[in-house]
Amino acid sequence: TVHPAALLSLPKAELHLHIEGTLEPELILELAARNGITLPHPTLEVLREQYEFSDLQSFLDLYYANMAVLITEADFADMTRAYLARARDSGVRHAEIMFDPQAHAARGIELSTAVNGIAAALASSEAEFGISTVLIAAFLRDETEESALEVLEALLAMRAPITGIGLDSAEVGHPPSKFIRLYKRAAEAGLRLTAHAGEEGPPSYVEDALNLLGVERIDHGIRAVEDRILVKRLVREQVPLTVCPLSNVRLRAVDTLAAHPLPQMISAGLNVCINSDDPAYFGGYVGANFDAMAAEFAWDAATAELLAGNSIRSSFAPDARKDALL
Ligand code: ADE
Ligand code: ZN
Repeated sequence: TVHPAALLSLPKAELHLHIEGTLEPELILELAARNGITLPHPTLEVLREQYEFSDLQSFLDLYYANMAVLITEADFADMTRAYLARARDSGVRHAEIMFDPQAHAARGIELSTAVNGIAAALASSEAEFGISTVLIAAFLRDETEESALEVLEALLAMRAPITGIGLDSAEVGHPPSKFIRLYKRAAEAGLRLTAHAGEEGPPSYVEDALNLLGVERIDHGIRAVEDRILVKRLVREQVPLTVCPLSNVRLRAVDTLAAHPLPQMISAGLNVCINSDDPAYFGGYVGANFDAMAAEFAWDAATAELLAGNSIRSSFAPDARKDALL
């Protein structure tokens, strides 16, 4: 089995990360105090007791509630810097960071506050942490397409430094077909395209994200293994799947780590990589996800190197940056 220290030192890209999911309980309480906000779970102990989830929605309820502490640009910047420091400690050298603009707008926070705060931290990331970055605006699939289009237009009008768009939040009942116009507009604007699919939703959502939205990458995609024909296509086209093992266990998308389909996905020849999703909620950053899987499945160095290499090759980084990291 590959040594944990060797796993950490492998250069990696993190492609599936929600910046709001990096808010650690300590920082939540610190920001609540700074902004004079009273939380429903006012102590570290009580807050920590909330981190047991039965499915995606039970997590999303806490994730959205805790965002209430993010008020100023400095709050967004502090959260982002804390993530970059922890990602560096996991060997992450390139990070593609999603944020949920609609979730902040719904709380009365100006879009520019979230964008400028996150962007301020990203601006110094290469110099400070050795991590190149890409910002991705993720849209909430349980909201309307009109709402998403409005926010996308606002981001474009303000020249927000976004490289791509994503689609997240409650999956089942909100298929890709709901967002055809959003993805068409984003493609016209020159943005890169990804979407969550096949986390809790069926394999057909993975297929529809490719066929109807034109996505270049699938976030999660684990339920694709239920459809043999779809797997063949994903292998043939080498569609990147940004898998998040600890997230899948904590949200009960899989029963146990031992039952995770990742080894089967690797054997099938799928283009998979390892990501942390919402590391403050699911028990660890990229390094912890690598460690847990390597230990569970007794991975050798070659397997870890393949997955780290996939993450870099599947990123939206410029070719020169990929070459420097490979
Ligand atoms: N938002 C934050 N994390 C998410 C996940 N794992 N799935 C869907 N939406 C999310
Ligand atoms: Zn996610």
